[in-house]
Amino acid sequence: MPTLRHLRWGILGTGNIAGKFARDLASVADRATLVAVGSRDAAKAESFRIAHGAQRAHASYAALVDDPGIDTVYISLPNHLHAEWALRCAQAGKHVLCEKPAMLTTSELEAVLALARRSGTFFMEAYAYRCHARCARLTRLIADGAIGAPRLLHASFAFDGSTLGRPRLWDAAMGGGALMDVGVYPLSWLRLVAGEPLAAQALAHVEAGVDHWTAGTLAFAGGAIGTFTTALRCATPTTAVVHGATGAIDVVEPWRCPPGAALVLRRPGHDDERFTDDDGLALYAREALTVAAHVDAGQAPACTWADSLGQARLLDALRAQIGVRWPDAAGDGDGDSDGGR
Ligand SMILES: NC(=O)c1ccc[n+]([C@@H]2O[C@H](COP(=O)([O-])OP(=O)(O)OC[C@H]3O[C@@H](n4cnc5c(N)ncnc54)[C@H](OP(=O)(O)O)[C@@H]3O)[C@@H](O)[C@H]2O)c1
Repeated sequence: MPTLRHLRWGILGTGNIAGKFARDLASVADRATLVAVGSRDAAKAESFRIAHGAQRAHASYAALVDDPGIDTVYISLPNHLHAEWALRCAQAGKHVLCEKPAMLTTSELEAVLALARRSGTFFMEAYAYRCHARCARLTRLIADGAIGAPRLLHASFAFDGSTLGRPRLWDAAMGGGALMDVGVYPLSWLRLVAGEPLAAQALAHVEAGVDHWTAGTLAFAGGAIGTFTTALRCATPTTAVVHGATGAIDVVEPWRCPPGAALVLRRPGHDDERFTDDDGLALYAREALTVAAHVDAGQAPACTWADSLGQARLLDALRAQIGVRWPDAAGDGDGDSDGGR
């Protein structure tokens, strides 16, 4: 395990996930410090500061990014603001943990990564499930041939958010829709297990410019086929399962990874084997410590830059198929590796 740097965190935004991240960060206060929070609203920043024991509250995002007491920023803003603030952070020499999906398009992500490379700053897309030791165990089991060659995979993340009152989910201008909100999880998992797809197809129910429910199929090298389902208006069980030539691996609670949730290896003629790999850490504390362990390398093995780019390219392709286009699509998929900088 690489040496852990004690990072001094700033959080951009005071919403739902910002609060959960701050709560979990407090559980590893001996290894990480929440220095400040930034909000568009001074009162919200101050009440978040008090609730989570931060040292400072900033009444603008710019003030947080410019705070010299911070070295790492957690971007917990709606999707359409990720690129702007990831660029601002890298310009200010700050490391970034950015909520998923990293950016609205591949070209936005390429611009952010190009600047992070020039600035020598860390960047990671925030897939907390990827930071759990279960993921490394899963890929090791498959590489070691525990289930033979992967053949059929399925993963899902779908919920009914009809009454949650979260405008960002339904608004194309904010990067909304099922695929971008929770569909990114099954896609990320299928790619973790089977690599970058050779082909991808999706169908969706789209209303007012964003997908409300979507299903798709991915084809991988070696003949493996993956399917995924996702929705904002239809609750389904969360699933992640890979069937191979000689067995299967089921991941219980694949995205939240609560304590005791197992990875189950099923093989005909053998008793099921269960692996929990519990480490006693809260979900987002583990993610923050993953950043701390790899910050000097610029990226973390759990979610590398190449991985985020593969995910962004797949999302671009699937959105084009289902007809979800961002209102300001100037940079959509133009392949400019430096974002015109
Ligand atoms: N990793 C996970 O488990 C997880 C879970 C949920 C969401 N997410 C991701 O985290 C990000 C934020 O999601 P969330 O559920 O925390 O959203 P949220 O509750 O709506 O909070 C977003 C925050 O962004 C700020 N903001 C700036 N411009 C805004 C605008 N035009 N409308 C609304 N808020 C605006 C607000 O903070 P201020 O008012 O303080 O400026 C707001 O509190 C998204 O990218 C989402 O995909 C990740």
